[in-house]
Amino acid sequence: MTDFLTRARALLGDAHVLTEGLDAWAADWRGKFIGAPLAVLRPADTGEVAALVRLCAAHRVSIVPQGGNTGMCGGATPDDSGRQVVLSLGRLNRIRHVDLLNNTMTADAGCILQTLQDVAAGHDRLFPLSLGAQGSCQIGGNIATNAGGVQVLRYGNTRDLVMGLEVVLPDGQVLDLLRGLRKDNTGYDLRQLFIGSEGTLGIITAAVLKLFPRPHANVVALAATTSPQHAIELLALMRSRLGDRFTAFELISDACVAMVRQYFPQTPSFLAGEHPWSVLMQASDGGEQQALEAAFQSALESALETGLIEDVAIATSENQAAGVWALRETIPEAQQHDGANIKHDIAVPVSGIPAFIDEVVPLLHAAYDGVRPVIFGHCGDGNLHFNVSRPPGWSTADWQEETDRINDIVLDAVARYQGSFSAEHGLGQLRRNAMLRYKAPLEREVMRKIKQALDPESLMNPGKVIYG
Ligand code: FAD
Ligand code: MLT
Ligand code: ZN
Repeated sequence: MTDFLTRARALLGDAHVLTEGLDAWAADWRGKFIGAPLAVLRPADTGEVAALVRLCAAHRVSIVPQGGNTGMCGGATPDDSGRQVVLSLGRLNRIRHVDLLNNTMTADAGCILQTLQDVAAGHDRLFPLSLGAQGSCQIGGNIATNAGGVQVLRYGNTRDLVMGLEVVLPDGQVLDLLRGLRKDNTGYDLRQLFIGSEGTLGIITAAVLKLFPRPHANVVALAATTSPQHAIELLALMRSRLGDRFTAFELISDACVAMVRQYFPQTPSFLAGEHPWSVLMQASDGGEQQALEAAFQSALESALETGLIEDVAIATSENQAAGVWALRETIPEAQQHDGANIKHDIAVPVSGIPAFIDEVVPLLHAAYDGVRPVIFGHCGDGNLHFNVSRPPGWSTADWQEETDRINDIVLDAVARYQGSFSAEHGLGQLRRNAMLRYKAPLEREVMRKIKQALDPESLMNPGKVIYG
């Protein structure tokens, strides 16, 4: 390995081959997975990435690509063998080109998501991918995980927002798919293969991203509702009244609100009293603020009249809107403070959400007295973060021991609803068992063949996505 490191230093310079003080790269955001990298390599551009990949192939050193390291599944965390390198993309941070007439932006993979949103806004455009970790996650990581977030309802997943890609293949060749085309039927769409591949097929070094007109009118509201059934009926009502202007619909259970209040007591209350469920809604468009507000309010009046909601607060300033969003986006952090919780990132058809919740919550209570389901998320997409927090009196360690049993309760139900056991976070190291238990063998076999064709030595993020 000394020869490998010497050559890596010759390629990148000493300052960008780190072998000490690697804690920040060795563990995931939740602190659930902790590895022991041989080194952290920090290339500056596509050429350096390609040279490093060739060097790693020559020395049979496996590579764990890492972006902002905000992933929820340990996908960017190396194993503990001390033989894997972390390839950190943060120095690839240039905006290469903005094409306003084509409505596209070409950016390096290490650009921070929020920076891309800001650059788009500076050109009076919207880059709509939006999630709680946007201040630190990178577009390469978003693409590698096919991130979802809070505007999927209107704009789709990352997959729908990427028009072109540049990828360094496992043999070090650079695959240039950086085309800004809205139509291109010239064979297999290779770009889609790399989106959501979690670093197992190659290293994404740049992307052509889709831009949209920037909305100038925005309405954000928090409503109280009595049940998930009312929530999804509200969703249908709002969509029928607002159409594509309706951009976000996030369900929040009372346990989430209580947890955020406990760990972030400065969080304002937007609704008086206690409510079993709240819903955060957002609409936006390019027209007049007043017109959008009027349409939004009229739909809410119908919802109040028909009893779909009990109360509602509409943000009256950008500050207040940001506060409502902060209540929602602080939930993951509050859960971190609260200690062990067994996470699920599931999807079922939107219409199945109420029955799914009604079925699984009692199963959990029957299994564990005092268990705390912490349910929130992108209800408009059928995607819930269905987390299970420990009952009072349980230690974090004892609760972690229950992971397999709890996963079986929740994920067997997901399978009964023809749902997904990983809707937006991906697989990483966390979903190995679920993949083996629920994913059809033929689907796994086809994936394995693709992996074998592109990465026969299995040097790209081994132990993730392709298991066993
Ligand atoms: P990392 O965590 O660094 O890596 C994730 C995976 O991608 C790993 O497998 C890694 O090997 C691979 N990878 C990274 N960069 C590259 C590259 N350039 N080429 C090839 N492979 C690469 N996710 C959602 O989908 N929706 C949400 O709403 C959401 N909210 C979140 C809120 C919080 C507070 C946090 C902490 C996380 C949230 N996430 C969410 C999860 C996470 O932010 C996303 O998965 C994000 O896309 C990961 O980006 P990253 O740059 O941090 O990637
Ligand atoms: C979210 O929607 O907040 C995230 O996906 C993070 C989480 O599940 O904790
Ligand atoms: Zn989410």
